[in-house]
Amino acid sequence: MRFSHILNLQKDLLTKSLILTFAGLLVAAGVVLSARPAYRSVRSGYADENYLKSGECRSCHADHYASWARTYHSRMTQEARSTNVQGDFMRDNTFEYLGVKARMEKLASSS
Ligand code: HEC
Repeated sequence: MRFSHILNLQKDLLTKSLILTFAGLLVAAGVVLSARPAYRSVRSGYADENYLKSGECRSCHADHYASWARTYHSRMTQEARSTNVQGDFMRDNTFEYLGVKARMEKLASSS
């Protein structure tokens, strides 16, 4: 009799701990899901698809964004368009460094 009472207590304890574990997992999942950033503008079809645009970082990283924006780092990943590229690709378009010779040119198909 006393032995079965202990077994029942153990069953109760197991049931309660399973319920508590499940409730804890639900709370943890809720916290993780609600803490996820709401990404708004991924660029589908581009090479940087699934990445945020640079401006999106500002809302959470204002100081880092400001320091990035005032340096050339903000320009190093621009798309190679005629509005962004400052170099003259028609004249003086070769460059040699450590024995490697490069020639820059603008293709007719590029904008
Ligand atoms: C919705 C808010 C949010 C946005 C938007 C966001 N971040 Fe973050 N970022 C965070 C949080 C929160 C952390 C974690 C900070 C920590 O734990 O120190 C983090 C961490 C980082 C880290 C790691 C810092 C470290 O010390 O390890 C880098 C790098 C970073 N973010 C860059 C970016 C860049 C680049 C963008 C934009 C493309 C961006 N983040 C957009 C919230 C954001």
